[in-house]
Amino acid sequence: MKALFISLLVLNLLSLSFSELCNPHDKKVLLQIKNHFGDPYLLASWLSDTDCCTSWNAVECDPTTNRIVSLRIFSGDLSGEIPAEVGDLPYLETLEFHKLTNITGPIPPSISNLIHLISLRLSRLNLTGPVPDSFSKLKNLRVLVLSFNSLSGSIPSSLALMPEIDILELDRNNLTGPIPESFGNFAGRVPGISLSHNQLSGKIPASLDNTDFRLIDFSRNKLEGDASMLFGPNKTSGSVDLSRNLLEFNLSKVVFPNTLTYLDVNHNKIFGSIPTQMTQLNYLSLNVSYNRLCGQIPQGGKLQTLDYTAYFHNRCLCGAPLASCK
Ligand SMILES: *[C@@H]1O[C@H](CO)[C@@H](O)[C@H](O)[C@H]1NC(C)=O
Ligand SMILES: *[C@@H]1O[C@H](CO)[C@@H](O)[C@H](O)[C@H]1NC(C)=O
Ligand SMILES: *[C@@H]1O[C@H](CO)[C@@H](O)[C@H](O)[C@H]1NC(C)=O
Ligand SMILES: *[C@@H]1O[C@H](CO)[C@@H](O)[C@H](O)[C@H]1NC(C)=O
Ligand SMILES: *[C@@H]1O[C@H](CO)[C@@H](O)[C@H](O)[C@H]1NC(C)=O
Ligand SMILES: *[C@@H]1O[C@H](CO)[C@@H](O)[C@H](O)[C@H]1NC(C)=O
Repeated sequence: MKALFISLLVLNLLSLSFSELCNPHDKKVLLQIKNHFGDPYLLASWLSDTDCCTSWNAVECDPTTNRIVSLRIFSGDLSGEIPAEVGDLPYLETLEFHKLTNITGPIPPSISNLIHLISLRLSRLNLTGPVPDSFSKLKNLRVLVLSFNSLSGSIPSSLALMPEIDILELDRNNLTGPIPESFGNFAGRVPGISLSHNQLSGKIPASLDNTDFRLIDFSRNKLEGDASMLFGPNKTSGSVDLSRNLLEFNLSKVVFPNTLTYLDVNHNKIFGSIPTQMTQLNYLSLNVSYNRLCGQIPQGGKLQTLDYTAYFHNRCLCGAPLASCK
């Protein structure tokens, strides 16, 4: 009995040492990716005679299916374009290339085949070319971060078709054209959205009137005209940064949601005066500097606790913390 047990154990150990969990298709694709980058030091653990599920860095297998579900490569010396082969890892849920300034070229459209993707981060690379229109096929995607690249072209309106999108960050690129009309009508929940540091132009679409963004950063673009549709008593926005654009509208008429905690509109062409209602925003951090506002800063709430630089360089704003009105 004991002998049988020991021989079974030995058999078991033997079979373990000769089998691996790694799916052969996934392994082949990962080795192609390694080869594409010229066998970099960063991927030195990716060896054909070891198990990708247990011995390779930067990847993770699903514990039940053993398919590759995560590929995350960051902060290292890697050069070249992102290979189309990343689109051949059909069970990927997380794909990340981050802080690799020698990664250049376009975003491979094959990424749109990864229908199980939940999180896609391609940030602080040197990517060029457009944001693929086909990303709208990613029906499970919750996080899309393409920040700090040199992407160009306009924002595909189809991005609003992603029903699960929760974080959409396209900031610090070279994107042009308007904010899509479709951003007034997301298929699912409304994401927190950052489009700052681009070259976006034109008017903010009136359709955004319908949309309750909890977080907006449109700063440092060339947006013009009205932005009052972003506000209103029934919205639940927390943080809104519209600074350094060409926005031009009457602030007196705007009603701000009482959920607002951060509002920065510095360096625009906003006119009118600061509405009295703003004294009711108990957690507000505000910056309206470098605009064309006039009249007395209403007394109360947080408004007098802010530094004078939150208000300076306007046409004729007055009252504490600025000089008193004449
Ligand atoms: C990028 O590539 C250049 C030229 O090959 C090299 O000198 C540099 O160290 C690389 N930088 C990084 C962060 O990999
Ligand atoms: C990548 O971008 C950085 C800064 O954005 C720049 O200094 C560098 O030359 C770029 N590298 C390549 C290979 O384009
Ligand atoms: C952005 O685009 C403009 C015009 O297309 C170009 O001149 C500029 O070099 C680009 N900037 C970056 C950082 O890619
Ligand atoms: C806000 O909601 C109230 C109650 O549902 C409604 O009567 C009002 O018209 C709404 N106001 C705006 C500006 O949408
Ligand atoms: C801004 O709107 C207020 C309130 O409707 C109005 O009294 C004021 O004249 C407007 N200011 C300008 C400069 O149009
Ligand atoms: C407001 O923004 C201006 C312009 O960027 C800046 O100089 C100032 O320090 C800011 N003040 C506050 C209180 O945020």
